Amino acid sequence: MSSQALAFTHRFEPGAADLSPLLLLHGTGGDESDLLPLGRAVAPGAALLSPRGPVSENGAPRFFRRLAEGVFDEADLRRRTEDLADFVAAARDRYGLPAPVALGFSNGANIAAAMLMQRPETLAGAVLIRPMVPFAVPPRADLGGRPVLVLSGVMDPIVPVENARRLAAQLTAAGAAVEHRVLPAGHGLSQAEIGLSADWIRTLPRPALA
Ligand code: MLT
Repeated sequence: MSSQALAFTHRFEPGAADLSPLLLLHGTGGDESDLLPLGRAVAPGAALLSPRGPVSENGAPRFFRRLAEGVFDEADLRRRTEDLADFVAAARDRYGLPAPVALGFSNGANIAAAMLMQRPETLAGAVLIRPMVPFAVPPRADLGGRPVLVLSGVMDPIVPVENARRLAAQLTAAGAAVEHRVLPAGHGLSQAEIGLSADWIRTLPRPALA
C-alpha cells in the first residue's frame, strides 16, 4: 500500500495484530521502498511502516540536515524528530497500530535514536544499525526499560565504535535495556544484520491486543 495523504510519503504493509509493527527508517539516499525486504526478513508477518526522509541533500533523501558528514544541524534534527514522531502518531491512528519498533539504518538509525531521547513514547523499542550520537547534549528522557539493539561495525569509516558506545551509554542512562553488538563490518548493511535483528525481535514482548 502506498500513501501520500499523511505528512510523510510512505509505504505501509499491514501485518499480524499480535506482532509489533516495524518503523523502517532508511539511510541517506534511500527511500520508502529500501528497507521493506529487510523488514520482511527480520519480522515476518509484522506490519511495516516506511516513510521517506523529507530532506533532500543534492537529491539524496535524508531525515534531517547535516552540515558535514557526521556533523548534524541539531536545530533541524529536533524539528524533524517532532515531525516524524507526529507522523507515526497519525499513522498509528490511520492504520490502527500499536507503538512500533524502529529499524533504522545510518541516517535512519540516527533519527530513531533522537526520537528515543526526544519523543520516547513514540517507539516500543529500536534496532539501530550503524548509529551515532545524535545530540551533543541529549534531552532528558525516561525510556522505562525499552529494548534497544545497537549494531556497529568495527571497520566503520563513518562511525567510530567509541561513538556508538557513547550512544549506547546515553540510552542506558536514560533507562533503555540496551544490547550493543560490534560486528566485523564496515558502515554498510551486512548479512549479519538480518539474523541478529530477527533473533532479537523474536525476544520482544508482543503488543497487547486491543
Ligand atoms: C549518513 O551517511 O547518513 C551518516 O552516516 C549518518 C547521518 O548523516 O545521519
